[in-house]
Amino acid sequence: MEEIQEFYKACDESQRLITQSGKIEFITTMKYLNQYCQKDMSVLDACAGGGIYSFPLADLGCNVTAGDLIETNVAHIRMENEKNHKLKDVYQGNVLDLSRFHDNCFDVVLNLGSYYHLCDGKDREKSLSETLRVLKTGGIYMIAYINRCANYMAHFAEYKDHFSFLANYMKKGHIEDSTLFYSSTPELVEKDLKKQNLKILHHVGVDGPMFVYREIVESMNCKDFDAFMDIHFELCDKRSNLGYSEHGLVIAQKV
Ligand SMILES: C[S@@+](CC[C@H](N)C(=O)[O-])C[C@H]1O[C@@H](n2cnc3c(N)ncnc32)[C@H](O)[C@@H]1O
Repeated sequence: MEEIQEFYKACDESQRLITQSGKIEFITTMKYLNQYCQKDMSVLDACAGGGIYSFPLADLGCNVTAGDLIETNVAHIRMENEKNHKLKDVYQGNVLDLSRFHDNCFDVVLNLGSYYHLCDGKDREKSLSETLRVLKTGGIYMIAYINRCANYMAHFAEYKDHFSFLANYMKKGHIEDSTLFYSSTPELVEKDLKKQNLKILHHVGVDGPMFVYREIVESMNCKDFDAFMDIHFELCDKRSNLGYSEHGLVIAQKV
């Protein structure tokens, strides 16, 4: 808990995806949110960070409740919301305990942050079951994760002389003495979701192999970026490409 608090002290989550390479993840996630979130739907953004999805969803006419574990992130959302009053409610809380909400009360639940901060398998399972408890049957569930193989590639050169460190990371999905980040694989995430009786609708690599093209994307002009995004959309939901995307997103339905 202290580790995650320290980490987010240094981050302004509202600025998380404002660079051109960051927009790949934002545009891709918004594409699926636009597809499934409609006017008057109730949405829980349970790990809302800086509210980068909460506010656009409110603009679509959804009744959005935004929550987050970290006080500074919640303070930021509250400050924004005081200016525009777009959100239905804002709270500070942990997805592991959503007892403030009844069962089956949201049309859409976003779990875009907790899963990759929980290194204990039982906690990840609770993060899924508790966020699903508050989702209506037939409702839409979205979960984000970090890809282990993409991280291996991204950090290979840094740790090439510490191969046992990399080998241990690949086995566990987190650094030995840190519980800040947990990385998974498309297969493990699907296994966890199927245990919860979810029907998977889409499985998407939201940003692709950023370790290969981050700097190139940053220097693209608008025309090239649009052409690049066309290719990204062709590739991002192909199974053979999922594991190399730094971040994954699953869109599922509670059956
Ligand atoms: C990288 S940010 C992503 C924020 C936002 N969903 C987005 O995509 O921009 C991850 C967020 O998850 C939040 N978070 C992590 N663990 C959580 C938990 N157990 N309960 C609620 N929020 C949590 C963090 O505080 C952080 O704001």
